[in-house]
This record gives sequence, C-alpha cells and structure tokens, in this order.
Amino acid sequence: MSAYTNLKADMPLRSVQLISLHRPNALNALNRHLMAELDDVLQKAQSDSQIKCVVLTGSEKAFAAGADIKEMKDISFVDAYKQDFLSSWNKIREFRKPLIGAVSGYALGGGFEVAMATDILLASNSAKFGQPEINLGIIPGGGGTQRLIRAVGKAKAMEMILTGRMIKAQEACERGLVSQVLDAEQLMPEALKVAEEIANKSAISVQAAKEAVNAAHEMPLSEGLRFERRLFHQLFATKDQKEGMSAFIEKRKPSFTDE
Ligand code: HXC
Repeated sequence: MSAYTNLKADMPLRSVQLISLHRPNALNALNRHLMAELDDVLQKAQSDSQIKCVVLTGSEKAFAAGADIKEMKDISFVDAYKQDFLSSWNKIREFRKPLIGAVSGYALGGGFEVAMATDILLASNSAKFGQPEINLGIIPGGGGTQRLIRAVGKAKAMEMILTGRMIKAQEACERGLVSQVLDAEQLMPEALKVAEEIANKSAISVQAAKEAVNAAHEMPLSEGLRFERRLFHQLFATKDQKEGMSAFIEKRKPSFTDE
C-alpha cells in the first residue's frame, strides 16, 4: 500500500514510475506535505535502478492549481526568508532521470512551474496553463518568471505574468511549452508510451542527454558546446556505446546494460 496521502505512486510498467498528484478537494494545490511526498518519491525513484523514467500527472480537472493559497496566506516575510520558502522546489530540477509531465485541466502558478520543470510535457485538450499570482498580490516564485520567458519569449511571458491570463493546450504547444496535445483518453497511454520508449534506451546516455540539454539554459553557447562534447567523449567509455554501435552494424536490436 502506498505510504503517501497527497499523491499516488504506481509502477504501471516494469521500468516506469507513475506519480499522480492527489488532493482532489483542492485541485491538487501544492502544500508542504505534498511537496515533501513528491520529493521523497523522486528521491526513491532516483536510487532505484529498476526505474528508468518517471511520469508525473494530476487529475482530469487539474494537474495542480498552484501552491496552496490557504497554507501561504499568513506566512510572514521573516518566516519566508528564514526558511528560504520554496527553495526545496528546485529539487524537481535536480532529478536526473527523465521526467515526463502529463497535464489535464489546470496547471496554474506553482503547478505550471512544476510542469515546466519536467523534461517533456504532454497535454490533453483540456489543459490550461497560467501564472495567476499577480491576482494574489505576489509574483511567480518557483521559476515562472525565468522558465516561461525562455520557453515563450518576453512578450508572451510578460503578458501571462502581468495579466494572469491562461493559455490553452494548443497555444502552449504552438509556443513550444508542450510537445504534444492529445485527446483526454489518449494522454496517459501516450505519456506511458513515450516513457517506455525512453526506458528502453541506455540509461546512461539518456541521463547525459538530459544533462546536456538542460545545460543549454544555464551556459553560454561556447561553454554549452564544450560541455556537450565532453559528455559525448565520455560515452565512449561505456559498454552501452559499444553495444549500440555493434548492434547497428550487426543489424540487431541493442541490449543495453546501463554500463
Ligand atoms: C488552495 C485551492 C487552490 C490553491 C483551488 N483550491 N486552487 N486551494 N490553493 N491554489 C481549492 C478551492 O479553494 C476550492 O476549495 C477547491 O480547490 C475547488 O476550487 P474552485 O475554485 O471551487 O474551483 P473552480 O471554480 O473550478 O475554479 C478553478 C480555478 C480556481 C480557476 C483553478 O480554483 C483558482 O483560481 N485557483 C487558484 C489558482 C491560483 O491562483 N494559483 C496560483 C497560486 S499561488 P473549497 O474548500 O473552497 O471547496 C502560487 C505561487 C507559486 O502558485 C509560488 C511558487 C511555487
């Protein structure tokens, strides 16, 4: 039985962990307890060599409607500053295995920020994305002002952040936030299919690819290219590189061992 109360953790496929946010009475609003559980399940997935890929989803109505406003309302500046409130949210970004987001319904505020922190984001037709914090007298605090501008450019990011307006799945896809828009009943099958496809690759080259792509956000181009090349060189020290190339030449499927 799952030890978690605000999320469900299942293994629908041998090497794929499915995490479903589960606070149905609060549209999956992200309170401290839920974030601690998410951190815990991701840490366990990180150290479990059987898990190759993780899918993170919510409910049909909401991926997550933001950080929990009821929990946040009375926080003082001193508390927020002393606890470095929200600093733990960076942990999602530190997860090294591939993380696929599958969004139906609302992905707002902190919910949108968590969605943007995944590696590949799929959305159903019902998905709506937004940073409505401005309506609460605050600003995005989990990376929204930084990640959104990189995805959609300054004009659209400013419009969304200053007005709090939402965008629908199709627009999110056209703007590069989302990789595919699917009918509701196709969302999870497709998310699991993508996850399984990735899970069948060499885990070591998948991890290196994720690290290299994410470095593009952090580094100037010349440094990023150098970083990519170093990782590329290092992969020639792996058994999986020899196996992958031998399998191609021998016209067979590779059998990767993650070494
Ligand atoms: C706490 C929330 C919540 C939230 C919804 N609920 N969002 N509780 N925090 N973020 C609760 C409601 O209070 C309500 O509980 C129940 O969920 C259902 O919500 P309704 O509003 O009745 O549903 P609906 O009319 O369908 O409207 C859906 C909605 C609306 C448009 C998504 O709930 C909404 O605007 N939510 C807030 C969205 C938001 O502002 N997000 C940003 C939060 S700030 P009761 O008990 O009344 O039935 C943030 C900062 C991030 O994320 C900082 C960095 C991480």
